Amino acid sequence: MPLVTLKSVLADAQQGGYGVGAFNFNGIEDARGILDAATEKRSPVILMTSVSAVAYMGGPRAVVGLIRGLSDHLEIPVVLHLDHAEDPRFIAQCVDSGYTSVMIDASKLSYEENIAVTREVVSYARRLGVSVEAELGRLGGREEQVNVSAREAAMTDPADVPDFVARTGIDALAVAIGTAHGFYKEEPKLDFDRLTRIRSLTDVPLVLHGGTGVPEPDFIRSIQCGMAKINVGTELKYCCSQTVRENVAGKPTEIDIRKLVGDARTNCRDIVLHKIDLFGSGGKL
Ligand code: 13P
Repeated sequence: MPLVTLKSVLADAQQGGYGVGAFNFNGIEDARGILDAATEKRSPVILMTSVSAVAYMGGPRAVVGLIRGLSDHLEIPVVLHLDHAEDPRFIAQCVDSGYTSVMIDASKLSYEENIAVTREVVSYARRLGVSVEAELGRLGGREEQVNVSAREAAMTDPADVPDFVARTGIDALAVAIGTAHGFYKEEPKLDFDRLTRIRSLTDVPLVLHGGTGVPEPDFIRSIQCGMAKINVGTELKYCCSQTVRENVAGKPTEIDIRKLVGDARTNCRDIVLHKIDLFGSGGKL
């Protein structure tokens, strides 16, 4: 089927009380592994590219062509989402090229500036029926926000959420509740009270970033508390690099590049199969 919007997939997830995995990919192997898993589980899936991954793969049109070509014969809902973009012009290029969802991350700006930039992106994307995710609070990398008070200060203030959602018209909101991008040095402590307060104040689908390394029971509890989209990136990136590292070491004379990188497809598939089970999205077409 044609690519679908984030809005439609997350509306179903909210109604059904499950989460949908959003997986970062950087090339053919991981993209195919993610689609293989979603197909096997009959699950909706969100494929995401960072801005640098788009450049790496040859630009938005190349990415759209790849994902449309890999998925248009599949019977599962597939969303192609641009992750953490800060430049509205680049987002517009992705919208024009056929992405069905984009994230504007203006969380480094002031609250009012975040609203203004997010509104601009929503008004552009809406004309083409493309969904928009925005961020309130600061997620950051795990190396940032080292002390507890800085970490608290960066979290989403529930009181801001209704105003932000109403004034921007977004389709999904990334909230900072204690996760961060990359590998964690210590187990993350998710602020479920904050999440519950946010959930009670808005109906907008919520997004959990920094899924790599989140303890499995915390994923389940997050979904029970109202998270609809769960982002996982680093775990798959590491899986791809580790696969290549091991194959190169084990087959030092191999000249067929496919025999060195191809296993990343099945290894990524196995990770995503497990995430789909955890998030409960299998069989939810
Ligand atoms: P991880 O790389 O920590 O899994 O986070 C992914 C993410 O949130 C992408 O926006």
